[in-house]
Amino acid sequence: MVDLKWSELPFGYIKTNYNVRAYFKNGNWSKLEITDKEHIDIHMAATCLHYGQEAFEGMKAYRGKDGKIRLFRWEENWKRLQNSANGILMEPVPKDLFFEMLKTVVLKNEEFIPPYGTGASLYIRPLLFGSGVRVGVKPADEYTFLIFVTPVGPYFKEGFKPVKIAIIRDSDRAAPLGTGTLKVGGNYAASLRGGERVHAEGYGAPMYLDAIEKKYIDEIGAANFFAIKDGTYITPKSSSILPSITNKSLIQLVEHLGYKAERRPVREDELSGFEEVGACGTAAIISPIGEIKDLDSGEVYKYCPDGKPGPISTKLYETLLAIQYGDMEDPFGWVTFLD
Ligand code: PLP
Ligand code: COI
Repeated sequence: MVDLKWSELPFGYIKTNYNVRAYFKNGNWSKLEITDKEHIDIHMAATCLHYGQEAFEGMKAYRGKDGKIRLFRWEENWKRLQNSANGILMEPVPKDLFFEMLKTVVLKNEEFIPPYGTGASLYIRPLLFGSGVRVGVKPADEYTFLIFVTPVGPYFKEGFKPVKIAIIRDSDRAAPLGTGTLKVGGNYAASLRGGERVHAEGYGAPMYLDAIEKKYIDEIGAANFFAIKDGTYITPKSSSILPSITNKSLIQLVEHLGYKAERRPVREDELSGFEEVGACGTAAIISPIGEIKDLDSGEVYKYCPDGKPGPISTKLYETLLAIQYGDMEDPFGWVTFLD
């Protein structure tokens, strides 16, 4: 095991031993290549550089109390990458190759998987991009797929403590018929201005509203939004948000725990009636929200009056982590053991 301050890790990059790569050329995927190089050699006319032909994933490996390494719903990440690839006309990565590369990169960097109980995990970043040469706006004929890993701590510095969120209207991360449902780099480039603006004003992340009416809640930075009201878990339905695997899991979990779940358009003016609100995602896990400020109207919505996350958010957080780290039986078949 490498010597790191595991419980103080930020959500950032730390060099590990290896990454894995494969190349699509002349109609075929290569075998995987294991390398310790952190750089990639790329043609200056590659489509990813000019036309944003690029998609990525975000997932985690967890070390349980039993020392075993667990992945959470990796097939869902593979499916979403297929969808992102199809959405921007890239060559999809075959499932077997994806899993072989995933397993290899995690096991080759085993000493970087944080010890159980430190609150940290190994973040896994699959990345697919057009590496073929084009000058006209057209899909590439060559693709590179790579996966690197890095040990991480919480995405929001608060961890499982209430964060402050700001509603912005002066930029959109995605259009209703654009690429919002895909995990492509362009959406994140579009979100930088909003993210930096709200950070400078002291908020953890921006909340985006629907791009047409600015009336409905879309999502929060790099996480989906959920709310709790009268024993029901409510999360937005929208054609411009990323289908979060964490959110999908929380819907199943909340129903398993005996509550109801609704996926439907959620208006901003409903915020005043919610008992608990939060952000969810692989990096964010569940981040309870203590305050949402609409930076245009000045309206402030407050939650967690005693400074603590609400009971249902807490239950969901504890149960999700217990499944991911193997502290409780996985009733859904979400976990894959790697060793
Ligand atoms: N929304 C956006 C824009 C994201 O980048 C992410 C992170 O992947 C999520 C939501 C959460 O998705 P998931 O739970 O699959 O990590
Ligand atoms: C994730 O939750 O895995 C993400 O991809 C968030 C990331 C963009 C920081």
